[in-house]
Amino acid sequence: MIRLAILASGSGSNAEKIMEHFQNSSKGHVALVASNKPDAFVLERAKNFQVPTFTFTKKEMEAGVLLDKLREEKIDWVILAGFLLKIPDDLIRAFPNRMVNIHPALLPKYGGKGMYGAYVHEAVKAAGDKETGITIHLVNEHYDEGKIIFQAATSVTPEDTPDSIAQKVHALEHRYFPEVIESLI
Ligand code: GAR
Repeated sequence: MIRLAILASGSGSNAEKIMEHFQNSSKGHVALVASNKPDAFVLERAKNFQVPTFTFTKKEMEAGVLLDKLREEKIDWVILAGFLLKIPDDLIRAFPNRMVNIHPALLPKYGGKGMYGAYVHEAVKAAGDKETGITIHLVNEHYDEGKIIFQAATSVTPEDTPDSIAQKVHALEHRYFPEVIESLI
């Protein structure tokens, strides 16, 4: 069984879909949910699935505390599902081609520092784009630039608001992220 760790900073709706999916998988198992936010709702979701949780500060992550924990738990793959801190290079290098991120836009559009969550959907709306979507990619030392594994698009109409765009994007994420992880591992 491949051991997965999910890193998330917020609500964790993607983490929930992944935990749900891997409850019935013969390939992988979610062994840890880790967050830099002690009050993130993702930690509640993990408890409901009886998945162990771990919290850490940015400073601790930079000092190697998270890497030590991932090694102690014998984690094979790291899944970033709404994780909003930049991952230190030594942590990325410890999981070569075994760390995957989901981004709520069609990279290379709307990527890079500061482009996360609602900011992405506001930028899509402001630009008047006719479509947006999701990108699932491997993580390397350059923000949002790792190898793209999967993309899916959805239309944006003039009536859409950043909130309704977010809903469409979340629907794509929930539909595809678990199965893309399953096929990757
Ligand atoms: C997701 O839409 C994910 O793509 C985005 O944060 C949201 C987390 O939602 N990630 C980024 O913006 C990373 N740059 P969730 O907590 O409900 O899964």
